Amino acid sequence: MEKPKKGLQNKTYGTEINDFDKKVKREALKKERAYVDVPKKTQRISKQTSRISTTKREYQFITTISDDRGEEVKYAGIPLSKLIEENKNIGDIIGLLWFKKKLPPYASKFIEFIIETLADHGPCVSGAHNAIVAARAGKDLISSVASGLLTIGPRFGGAIDDAAYYFKWGKDTGLSPQEFVDEMKRKGIPIPGIGHRVKSIKNPDKRVILLINYARKFFPKTEYLDYALEVERITTAKRENLILNIDGCTGVLLIDLLKSLGFNDEEIKERTEAGLLNAFFLLGRTIGIVGHVIDQKLLKSELYRTPYEDVLYKLPKEEEL
Ligand SMILES: CC(C)(COP(=O)(O)OP(=O)(O)OC[C@H]1O[C@@H](n2cnc3c(N)ncnc32)[C@H](O)[C@@H]1OP(=O)(O)O)[C@@H](O)C(=O)NCCC(=O)NCCS
Repeated sequence: MEKPKKGLQNKTYGTEINDFDKKVKREALKKERAYVDVPKKTQRISKQTSRISTTKREYQFITTISDDRGEEVKYAGIPLSKLIEENKNIGDIIGLLWFKKKLPPYASKFIEFIIETLADHGPCVSGAHNAIVAARAGKDLISSVASGLLTIGPRFGGAIDDAAYYFKWGKDTGLSPQEFVDEMKRKGIPIPGIGHRVKSIKNPDKRVILLINYARKFFPKTEYLDYALEVERITTAKRENLILNIDGCTGVLLIDLLKSLGFNDEEIKERTEAGLLNAFFLLGRTIGIVGHVIDQKLLKSELYRTPYEDVLYKLPKEEEL
């Protein structure tokens, strides 16, 4: 076959070759554009990065917690192997990762104690209940645990930060416990950390007693706990279930702890507002919730449905609408 000359139309295959030529050119042009596009973008990026590197380096984010770039991970600057060699416990690790402090033994043991105390409280409480229902609906471990954790809030396990905040505010502003109770009533805010559905002065919460005993024995000072117990004396005189509950006790003791570790008021405020104190409940209760979910899976429990007789149906009548 005669090779078509450049620029000339081949007599036999003219149209086809021309079409073929055009197609090849089109494809080549597309490729060229694609090829050109990439370097253009790259140029833009490299221009940016060269500008950044010659002026001021902008980082995607800052971290002050851990570093995994070397041979091994460092927690707040300390290599993991060193922490293992020194027999550090989970309280020490939390001290480094959450407080960025090397904790004295009474503090790290207290953190462990809190986690042990908060780890579980039976299947009927909001978190475990939700997780069990989700597990029985066939959801996987993570989804079931998450559905339990999502119940943590102002009425269940999530009052630690608020309790710490308000008791600290009351004491620091010089309100007497009675003035504090009155002021909270005036504001229309139920005192976070006070009150329990089941526990009362006659049926005390053993966990609270254990925490108080530990702090009394090992803490240098328990000024916020003492203040909260004065408040409890006033509220339980009104109703026996208005005790200092586990959230309240954990909250004030964490304030006493942070104070004893050298955190100033502003630093405590920042951490409380960031949710750091509720994190102890979150972490602790995750242990129990995982247990409940695995338990249901091993028991091969069937789908849960609330019995009709457990629900009061109070629908309006159509004519009332
Ligand atoms: C835990 C809690 C939900 C239990 O509530 P409850 O036993 O159902 O009590 P009720 O909400 O029915 O309130 C009953 C009475 O106690 C009072 N009360 C309840 N909690 C109170 C609180 N924290 N501070 C002041 N008064 C409180 C109510 O005002 C009400 O008083 P009244 O009868 O004069 O109207 C409730 O005490 C509360 O919200 N506490 C604060 C949040 C908290 O600490 N949550 C963590 C729990 S571990």
